[in-house]
Amino acid sequence: MVISTGKNDNGLKLYDPGYLNTAPVISRISYIDGDAGILRYRGFPIEELAEKSTFTEVSYLIMYGNLPSESQLAAWEFNISQHSAVPQGVLDIIQAMPHDAHPMGMLVNAMSALSVYHPDANPALKGLDIYNSKQVRDKQIARIIGKITTIAAAINLRLAGRPPVLPSNELSYTENFLYMLDSFGNRSYKPNPRLTRALDIIFILHAEHEMNCSTSAVRHLSSSGVDVYTAVAGAIGALYGPLHGGANEAVLKMLSEIGTVENIPAFIEGVKARKRKLSGFGHRVYKNYDPRAKVLRKLTEEVFSIVGRDPLIEIAVALEKIALSDEYFIKRKLYPNVDFYSGLIYRAMGFQPEFFTILFAIPRMAGYLAHWRESLDDPDTKIMRPQQVYVGEWLRHYTPINQRTVSGNTDKLGQLAVSNASKRRLAGSGA
Ligand code: CMC
Repeated sequence: MVISTGKNDNGLKLYDPGYLNTAPVISRISYIDGDAGILRYRGFPIEELAEKSTFTEVSYLIMYGNLPSESQLAAWEFNISQHSAVPQGVLDIIQAMPHDAHPMGMLVNAMSALSVYHPDANPALKGLDIYNSKQVRDKQIARIIGKITTIAAAINLRLAGRPPVLPSNELSYTENFLYMLDSFGNRSYKPNPRLTRALDIIFILHAEHEMNCSTSAVRHLSSSGVDVYTAVAGAIGALYGPLHGGANEAVLKMLSEIGTVENIPAFIEGVKARKRKLSGFGHRVYKNYDPRAKVLRKLTEEVFSIVGRDPLIEIAVALEKIALSDEYFIKRKLYPNVDFYSGLIYRAMGFQPEFFTILFAIPRMAGYLAHWRESLDDPDTKIMRPQQVYVGEWLRHYTPINQRTVSGNTDKLGQLAVSNASKRRLAGSGA
């Protein structure tokens, strides 16, 4: 709807950087009350799901709206596991990437490559209406949730110079992921059940979070009618950023950099002087303790009781205590978010910091796909096309190049582009 005074009025525009006050969709998937620190998936409190449910059950709930019956859950899990094999070409792409590439960069590439390997699901080839079919949609959902762990494991193994391991259909979703990482191909390998459960809880906590930066990216991209793999690859790109999913990696680096509890006051002063941010703190929506961070804080103790205590936890706990009693953080309502403690758990489980955001991306596929599915059914869905407030030059006329002078406001990038282009032209002319 355009708000205007009449036919010749272009309508009211709201200048809303970061979309703080813009709700482009109506959704039934998850609910957040940022002031009260509440998160619910389809009406179920996150704490209850983390305690009682499993990731596959929660992903069904997020996707289809209700907790599954026994037979629905069995069919869902079977379907996902049937789609866990990844085309050899995608595995080859992962193998072809440098061993020191960032895993999230590799994941963006692998997801986008899946688009090419599944032309049957591409509206650009098959027509926009293919996604009207429930079967076609459900197949892509099972494919992405099934394949994401196999791709993630292949990326992890690539970083260690090891070949991918085939998934096992006999293990649970999270168990199979750990199996692919650690089994060295030994088919009888079984991961530690308590660590498997801890990771499953982490997956539940990360599965969905309404219109965050990457989920809104899925909605944005898929509103153009592009295939779901390309839309999800774009979302993974958004998740990669240190202000979003990349924050867990940044937290670990920050804690290591602080090094000892004695260094915390100086570090906090640096944050208050805006020299840097306190990673894992603050949230666009939560102006209270992130409920996921509370569950994770407890989970760190459970994981440490299995693998041993990480000394960085003392720094994290002391940092949290000091920050939460400091006027700067109190005034701005800055509390620990989901990324503050998750990195410590991942590290304790043996993951390297660069891989942490992948562990966020795996379960978030459920949220992305639920939003994709919801958008396809929403009669209000339109290609997303925000407005802008134009403040540039009003009207100018073309000047031939030999009559132009170097303009005063050319930025450095512009100058670089010009000089590179000139060099190419000179090289091309044989000069
Ligand atoms: N450390 C220090 N100051 C902060 C922080 C922080 N982590 N976060 C916000 N502030 C300050 C900010 O400088 C501003 O101060 P002032 O009003 O004096 O200018 C005020 O608090 C409000 O911050 P904002 O940047 O306007 O808030 P936002 O809603 O635009 O940003 C955020 C939210 C998550 C990007 C931000 O809090 C941040 O950068 N946090 C650190 C990165 C992080 O942990 N990200 C993970 C978020 S949770 C998982 C996810 O979504 O992926």
